Amino acid sequence: MKEKLSAPALRAAKGTGRRLKMVTAYDYPSAVLADRAPIDIILVGDSLGNNVLGYAGTVQVTMADMLHHLRAVVRGAAHTLIVADMPFGSYNVSPEQAIENANLLVKAGADCVKLEGGVAFAATVRALTHAGIPVMGHTGLMPQTLPPSAWKVQGRDAASARGIMYDAAALEEAGACALVLEAVPARLAAHITAQVAIPTIGIAAGPDCDGQVLVWHDLLGLNEGHGRHVKRYASLGETIAGALTAYCAEVDAGAFPTEEHSYKMKADELAAAVRAMREGRSSPVPQAPSEA
Ligand code: KIV
Repeated sequence: MKEKLSAPALRAAKGTGRRLKMVTAYDYPSAVLADRAPIDIILVGDSLGNNVLGYAGTVQVTMADMLHHLRAVVRGAAHTLIVADMPFGSYNVSPEQAIENANLLVKAGADCVKLEGGVAFAATVRALTHAGIPVMGHTGLMPQTLPPSAWKVQGRDAASARGIMYDAAALEEAGACALVLEAVPARLAAHITAQVAIPTIGIAAGPDCDGQVLVWHDLLGLNEGHGRHVKRYASLGETIAGALTAYCAEVDAGAFPTEEHSYKMKADELAAAVRAMREGRSSPVPQAPSEA
């Protein structure tokens, strides 16, 4: 059985050569599977919104959504560090608001919270860390503050690359235990990874981060479209579509269910039930006559 990584151990993994593996999960069965695999970190991401809840993006995701799905993941993954995303609107009012909502996520079983934002949210990350709540930073592409049509690679020019470098340094300085770099050029991610003393976990950020994260539905081929950063390790969408088609065809043809999928009953029990029905009794066993 794998040993559960703690947030301090995650922070200490920097420079050890350990390549961290993170995947999103949003429910109990996926958590059980990720927990059995050599996955180091499960992220209950706010990508819940577009992957599971049918929203266009992540902005609509609420604390109630996150808590509901986080609790299911926690029930399935006792041996894996669980990071919960703070949804849009749960931390941008004040550091106090962030602590209140992060407390709810921790009480629901999160080992660490993640929030989007760099320099602008460094004070919030510091306040959370001082409150005893481990924080994973997230910079580069930050889907909560951009419409899905603008979910593109960030930091290709010097000015925006510099902004992301400042973000990474500010998050490290504020006490984040790790940092997600999303959709940045591999060259920039490699540079930041070499500069900061906390592990970087990349998605669409090339091979030189300290770890990688993929979204469950992308990794398993459960989504229609995907970016070039995604490698599909299975085609479960096609497998599921094929299974549903075969099920419908067999029900139509009377080929399912057969005897092997059916439960047995003694013929005389059914005959007794039928007799009782005909005689208007509510139980096949004759009842004692009532006194009235
Ligand atoms: O919510 C999410 O899935 C994420 C990953 C893309 C890192 O934040």
